[in-house]
Amino acid sequence: MIILAIETSCDETAVAVLRDGRTVLSNVVNSQVALHGPYGGVVPEVASRRHVEMLPLVVDEAMATAGIGWAEIDVVAATHGPGLASSLLVGLSAAKGLALRLQKPFIPVNHLHGHMFSPFLSPGAPDVFDVFPFLSLVVSGGHTCLVRVDGVGRFRLLGQTVDDAAGEAFDKGANLLGLGYPGGAEIDRLAQGADRTLGPRFPRTRVTNFRGTAGGGLDPELCFSYSGLKTALLLHLKRLPAPPDAAAKASIAAAYQEAIVDALIERCERALQDGELRVLAVGGGVSLNRRLRERLAALAVTCGVRLLLTEPAFCSDNAAMIAAVAALCPATPSGASLAVDIVPSLAITAVDWLGGV
Ligand code: KG4
Ligand code: ZN
Repeated sequence: MIILAIETSCDETAVAVLRDGRTVLSNVVNSQVALHGPYGGVVPEVASRRHVEMLPLVVDEAMATAGIGWAEIDVVAATHGPGLASSLLVGLSAAKGLALRLQKPFIPVNHLHGHMFSPFLSPGAPDVFDVFPFLSLVVSGGHTCLVRVDGVGRFRLLGQTVDDAAGEAFDKGANLLGLGYPGGAEIDRLAQGADRTLGPRFPRTRVTNFRGTAGGGLDPELCFSYSGLKTALLLHLKRLPAPPDAAAKASIAAAYQEAIVDALIERCERALQDGELRVLAVGGGVSLNRRLRERLAALAVTCGVRLLLTEPAFCSDNAAMIAAVAALCPATPSGASLAVDIVPSLAITAVDWLGGV
């Protein structure tokens, strides 16, 4: 079965062609990072206009790289949430149009499920059906979630951030340090080889209780809070008598990174404590972070669990992971999926077309 998937939930125009749920025939990503860099963040209308311009070119390139003809496509898939409304609309509308033209089924996919199942795209990864139940850590620019995955479409959210996402903490910290946008990779680079003990001791905020219904029944100890961290960095930088030199800045970056990573490791360890979940699968842009990968590897040894990291090519937003989820979806009632609209705030536990296998 060959699936063509489109992903335009944020600032990447991405198209992939996947065979049999695993073999990536093409995975083309047109990043808008340079376009939004000067604004220090993604400008939604600029992003959607660029998606409109780029999508036909990216589709053509994905088809040419895959070396297949239109008649060979069996299913068309696209992200329908969560993400920027005007960006989601571009990819979703194009995918529906393509499915109608090709007279093939259309499958709407939850972007977060893409990150959740992206570790299984690695050549050495086990079959996903052999590892249920597993613990999924999704760490991206907009989300930080711990999910227990009992089956395809059978998810239980264990914890999530109550304010900034881990990627947001990296990006805001990088901004304060005068690094480029998005700053996660810059902090990672700067922290390499730096002495983090020379930097400040940043707070490790614990979530002790929820106000009102904000927690939605989650265990606060498995939740994250990163907004105080950037404030601590801001205050630290303000108190310095002079701007830090290169070595001092690298130490601050390394200490800041360690605080973000510590919280992720601590919550994973807690979620794995009862010994029931034997596999930890990690996806999302922040999972590119080298220190996080190192610490996760050590944690897996300590807890005696199997660690599945996502291949670098599938960590940041891409369409191969969207196709991989579509491949897990049961056959859809013909035409019904074409009525599915964008859902900008789609929850990680929303199952849509995944059913519950
Ligand atoms: O998954 P992703 O591409 O987009 C979302 O769905 O949000 O994640 C983007 C995030 C950004 O915040 C970026 O700074 C972060 O991933 N990121 C990193 C690294 N590379 C990208 N964070 C830490 N270390 C990195 N090496
Ligand atoms: Zn993402």
